[in-house]
Amino acid sequence: MQEAHKKALSDPIFSIISDAAEELSLRCYVIGGYVRDYLLNRGIPMDIDVVAVGSGIELAKKVASKLEGKPKVSVFKNFGTAMIKNKGVELEFVGARKESYHRDSRKPIVEDGTLEDDQKRRDFTINALALSLNKNDFGTLLDPFEGLADLDEKIIRTPLEPGITYSDDPLRMMRAIRFATQLGFQIASGSLKAITENKERIKIISKERIVTELHKILQSDKPSIGLGLLHKTGLLPLILPELTALQGIEEIEGQKHKDNFWHTLEVVDNIAMATDNLWLRWAALFHDIGKAPTKRFHKRIGWTFHGHEFVGSKMVYRLFKRLNMPLNDKMKYVQKLVMMSSRPIILSEEHVTDSAVRRLVFDAGNDVEDLMTLCEADITTKNPRKQRRYKNNFKIVRKKIKEVEERDRIRNFQPPISGEEIMKRFDLKPSKEIGIIKEAIKEAILEGKIPNEHEAAYEFMLEMGKKLNLKAN
Ligand code: CTP
Repeated sequence: MQEAHKKALSDPIFSIISDAAEELSLRCYVIGGYVRDYLLNRGIPMDIDVVAVGSGIELAKKVASKLEGKPKVSVFKNFGTAMIKNKGVELEFVGARKESYHRDSRKPIVEDGTLEDDQKRRDFTINALALSLNKNDFGTLLDPFEGLADLDEKIIRTPLEPGITYSDDPLRMMRAIRFATQLGFQIASGSLKAITENKERIKIISKERIVTELHKILQSDKPSIGLGLLHKTGLLPLILPELTALQGIEEIEGQKHKDNFWHTLEVVDNIAMATDNLWLRWAALFHDIGKAPTKRFHKRIGWTFHGHEFVGSKMVYRLFKRLNMPLNDKMKYVQKLVMMSSRPIILSEEHVTDSAVRRLVFDAGNDVEDLMTLCEADITTKNPRKQRRYKNNFKIVRKKIKEVEERDRIRNFQPPISGEEIMKRFDLKPSKEIGIIKEAIKEAILEGKIPNEHEAAYEFMLEMGKKLNLKAN
């Protein structure tokens, strides 16, 4: 056992920290994610947290003085922490502390403490595991809260009474759910109850920190675990009420629609198997959000969600804004995919024509493959025959996309005839006729009436000119 833990500390940086601590006559330990991920065999993390029983800042300075190139020490005096970047690894140093909170303040009263005081104030037992860096017991695991047993049993549990841990720092509610998702762990029942009871306190956490956790949930292998837990604990309506609104099945006159919340979760899991693209995963999460506000029941046709893609893409903007997420190209990409999310399925339900495929490629541009990936993930029918039919149709669509692309180069469509050429040929000043001709050429190409080539487009332009009673030079 002892040997194995020494292996965790085989990087020379740990003996340097150990020497520095001895010179300062203080004790220090590696703690948190590094120890957890090592014990879980998750690869060596790029962040190392070191806790010193004494001044973490002094220890950091001593360590830096021993390192090649004497890296800079960034000191955060208010937090009593210091950070060194060394060979791509971030070393965080902190003095062991005891924290207590007043009921009505999030600001802790901080005092120096023992290692165990420090472990106690941490979020989860699996994050409170510490490895000694001291000469006499180098590599010994210090585990007063049975974190090792929780790692074995795959349990997320708090060192203290859970109500205290979550109320002290409500972000930990999101972290519990995120770790459960990333690691495939269960949240202890007491913790789950405490999260449910403290859910409203999520309001005091910054949007950015919440979004970071959402990113990590979405980046995991099975995001539905986290999304389901957010739903179960009641956090979801406080963060993403648009998703909660999709939950439920309504029945009128014997006609039902599917539960679009659980469907969405399946789609997100499907997409997680198909791609690591985080923004495509966001698009999957939001692809149906327009369905709640557009849901209608018609006596003859049953349930409809007309225009949900358009409404959904507008909602994406408001959602990003509310969550303080940057309103940049990524947001536009998510909007575009939500907007186009039903196109390939509609297309594959009918006979797949070249012109419909050409229009799809024209509208989706370089995102056409991502759109196809999203639409394939959207197939959640449990009917094996339908499942086969949809998949097969998508295969046909993909094949046609390739063919149309090779032939017509439509993806980044540049009109083969410029406005200037039209003006010159018909001796026109800038006018609406130029727009009409250009649009007609584009339509003719998309409809497959003419190939996407200059000569054919030129002929077509002359015909259009005649129809518009224009005189050619
Ligand atoms: N921690 C905590 N409460 C928080 C955040 C962090 O108690 N709200 C403690 C935990 O002991 C955690 C350590 O600080 O292990 C380091 O936090 P951080 O670097 O955010 O997380 P890691 O556990 O290292 O995991 P990850 O990098 O996956 O976020």
